[in-house]
Amino acid sequence: MFSIRASRVSFFMANIIVIGAQWGDEGKGKIVDLFTPFFDIVARYQGGHNAGHTVIIDGRKYVLHLIPSGILHPGKLCVIGNGVVIDPEALKREIGELAEGGISCRDRLFISDRAHIILDYHRLAEQGDEERRGAERIGTTNRGIGPAYEDKMARRGLRVCDLGNPRTVRSRVEESIRVKQALVPEAAGGIQVDEICARAAELGRELREYFGDTAEILNRAIDGGKSVLFEGAQGTLLDVDHGTYPFVTASSATAGGASTGTGVGPTRIDGVVGISKAYTTRVGEGPFPTELQDGTGEHIRERGQEFGASTGRPRRCGWFDAVVVRYARLINGLGSLVITKMDVLDDLDEIKICTGYRYKGERLRSFPPEVAVLERCEPEYLSVRGWRAPTAGIRDYGELPPLARDYVRRLSDLVETEISVVSTGPDRAETVVVSPDSRLESWLPLHRAGSSG
Ligand code: GDP
Ligand code: IMO
Ligand code: MG
Repeated sequence: MFSIRASRVSFFMANIIVIGAQWGDEGKGKIVDLFTPFFDIVARYQGGHNAGHTVIIDGRKYVLHLIPSGILHPGKLCVIGNGVVIDPEALKREIGELAEGGISCRDRLFISDRAHIILDYHRLAEQGDEERRGAERIGTTNRGIGPAYEDKMARRGLRVCDLGNPRTVRSRVEESIRVKQALVPEAAGGIQVDEICARAAELGRELREYFGDTAEILNRAIDGGKSVLFEGAQGTLLDVDHGTYPFVTASSATAGGASTGTGVGPTRIDGVVGISKAYTTRVGEGPFPTELQDGTGEHIRERGQEFGASTGRPRRCGWFDAVVVRYARLINGLGSLVITKMDVLDDLDEIKICTGYRYKGERLRSFPPEVAVLERCEPEYLSVRGWRAPTAGIRDYGELPPLARDYVRRLSDLVETEISVVSTGPDRAETVVVSPDSRLESWLPLHRAGSSG
């Protein structure tokens, strides 16, 4: 029986960030759920309800968007940090859905009073903007994420702490709508300022019990010996600074975002774990060097059920790209890597791994910043034999077929990072811990020493 013994938690007080090492949807929700017993608090630090984090426990499926996946563990506290953008309607809906499933957020969920608010006109502006871009569109989730961050940076954003002040609500909403209408006239239709302001104030009152100074809460908890698991959303290649700009999200999805997005200083964070699929996916537009636009890509999409957890859009699929994950290791200071969805590759005769890029005949030394270059890069592939045996549901490393173990070792060598966990199915229990005794508590504390950084 796979079991995580929470009784050893007291030995382990590291604060760890879990981040996506690719273009999102790597299985962060599953892994955060797996790690949660070893932590006291789970905190989101960026993004919003563009995220869709799936957790499957004993066959029951939960998809979290704004609320940290730790909410599924009774007794754990959850924080939505200042770096997150919050659509109060979506938040209310998610709290309600969890309550219907018997999971209460009361006294367990704390939301930063400095977080910025998404209102309906943000979504309308985004929709208009994407339509205007036409073929150049980003392929966003249309949740209003980008326009809300735009308001934040332009210093006209409405924050959680402002919701109780009708004059501030009104002036920020009017200013934001004024600017957005100038840029995206299509957003003008149907906007009722009075209604928006009244609804924002109402939602502020309804959700007030969750609002507070979460930087204070987190830092005091750490002072008192509690540990925090930071749950990244999106992924390294979608980060606004380090990703495939402009085909990125509007926030800092890399490890650095955990500090600015919660107010917990970098000196208090002990390690970073990256999550990557055994292959690669991407939703929306933008460069994807190892994309497979053929039957193999289709096979992976079907077998991996690669359809967005938030939008239901089909995900683009391709081979594992060691250039991308090596870059993620560098940008995030990854201490180790989790490989998910091994089972999806179970019946392939041949599997390819991208080991480098060639551009105009030259091998590139680093990950290129320009989309135009990335689009013209030719991936160099290493071809390996598929294991053609079921890995689905395997829990012991030794039980993985030898060729599957070779594949894991090869990924580790190419990314120059230890692989700590291999996921063999969506359920919490379908997990291999790659430590001599297959127990997470043997590996997680070691992580603190930066085992392979
Ligand atoms: P996240 O956004 O990083 O949390 O990932 P998503 O939840 O959007 O997408 C990951 C999908 O893969 C979900 O449907 C998970 O249930 C599923 N999943 C996670 N790990 C595995 C695995 O090892 N094998 C299989 N077959 N599915 C997995
Ligand atoms: P999780 O946390 C995968 C993508 C969108 C689009 C780009 C910008 O579940 O891994 P946005 O709405 O954020 O402005 O869209 O980013 N995107 C994601 N892709 N997983 C996600 O989240 C994503 N969140 C945003 O598809 O390409
Ligand atoms: Mg997702």
